[in-house]
Amino acid sequence: MLRTLIINQKIEPFKKIIKVDGDKSLSIRWVLLASQALGISKAYNLLMSEDVSAALEAIKKLGIKVKINKSNCEIFGNGINGFNYKSGLVVDAKNSGTLGRLILGLLIRSPKRIKIIGDKSLSKRDFSRVVMPLEKFGAKFYYKTKNKLPLSIIGSQSPKGINYIENKGSAQCKSSVMLAALNSTGTTFIKAKKSRNHSELLFKYLKIPIKIKKNKKYDFINIKKPTKINAFNYQVPGDISSSAFFMVLTMLTNNSELLIKNVNINPSRIGIITILKKMGAKISLNNTRNYRGEKISDIKIKTSKNLRGINCPSRLNSSAIDEFLIIFLVAAKAKGISYFRNISELNQKESPRLNWGSKILNMMGIKTELTKDSIKIYGQPNLEIAKPIVIKKYLKDHRVFMMSTIAALTCGGKWKIHDKDSINTSFPSFLKIIKNLNNQLI
Ligand code: S3P
Repeated sequence: MLRTLIINQKIEPFKKIIKVDGDKSLSIRWVLLASQALGISKAYNLLMSEDVSAALEAIKKLGIKVKINKSNCEIFGNGINGFNYKSGLVVDAKNSGTLGRLILGLLIRSPKRIKIIGDKSLSKRDFSRVVMPLEKFGAKFYYKTKNKLPLSIIGSQSPKGINYIENKGSAQCKSSVMLAALNSTGTTFIKAKKSRNHSELLFKYLKIPIKIKKNKKYDFINIKKPTKINAFNYQVPGDISSSAFFMVLTMLTNNSELLIKNVNINPSRIGIITILKKMGAKISLNNTRNYRGEKISDIKIKTSKNLRGINCPSRLNSSAIDEFLIIFLVAAKAKGISYFRNISELNQKESPRLNWGSKILNMMGIKTELTKDSIKIYGQPNLEIAKPIVIKKYLKDHRVFMMSTIAALTCGGKWKIHDKDSINTSFPSFLKIIKNLNNQLI
């Protein structure tokens, strides 16, 4: 298979109904929580991507039986802290920050040393953000390079609940501590800046003792150790972060319309919809329903002309944290200057995404002003790219690949986008869905 994607023309108009792959955050959480439940849990529409496979491999190595069937995945949980493994175990989190950080929380009471490794991208990312709170529970960490993978953890014999302030708006940090609380005596108090709340909703659904109070900026969560977690089945909804690429593809293509079925529209994830609507996008939500505390909807998008730049309110940052690259593309095609600030966290992702977003826009002929934590984008509604563009050496960040593909299909130019297999971490059907929209390309 050719590993480079070549795109030499824009996509033709389309009117289609699609489904995107299952939500990544929920898929990984289901795997980790099902591994702590007692009995057989089943998931339908589980995301079958490399990040989720890495999570399944990880719990298998920790002694949990996993069965992948045609229409579902089964996990045979042994209960809380029911892992069973030999010392010297190595768990590979591959590209997944969510897996690497959350699993450390689950290992808070593991008596034998376990080494966590990751790929080149994950090995550059910061782990102090989870190491620090987990040390407070009593875990010990060992590494070559401080706070980076590979690192080893030895859990505490008797972890005790902690007080923890999560100030980055990181759901990974919050969730890692929440998972450690499952194995700790006493109460764990978390004051967390707003971030996606899938872990809280799952804890509630599973009847794990959790109390949550909210103010505008923070959630105050307290958790007590449950006596057990019952096995549970789960139907994973579509991923809004994957849908975002198709929302923007439709907005920026003439005479087009798309209905994306069955997408998770948890309020803590839909910053993308709020931001795009403020910029003039035609988006509506139909058939909204609740599923185990999560909100699910069909999303309808139409070609959106006369887009306007945005002075993006920082309060939306965490609910759009994975969508900024594709939002930057809309800003490039909008009238006026767009401004995004307090987004240094983007440079902590699979690649330094804030820098990459700016770089790709510059290659497209768009002026940007970049700082460590902000970007100004000078939009050009009539932008047409005539020159060749090559996207490479981007640490295989799946979202850099997908943003570049959508840019190529909507702005023209001759694009060579390396490392096509990068999409396998989060959205293996990405190129197939594009092909089915419109058979002429890719
Ligand atoms: C995730 C949280 C976010 C997000 C990541 C998935 C999760 O990371 O970027 O793709 O599932 O908890 P941070 O918690 O580091 O912001």
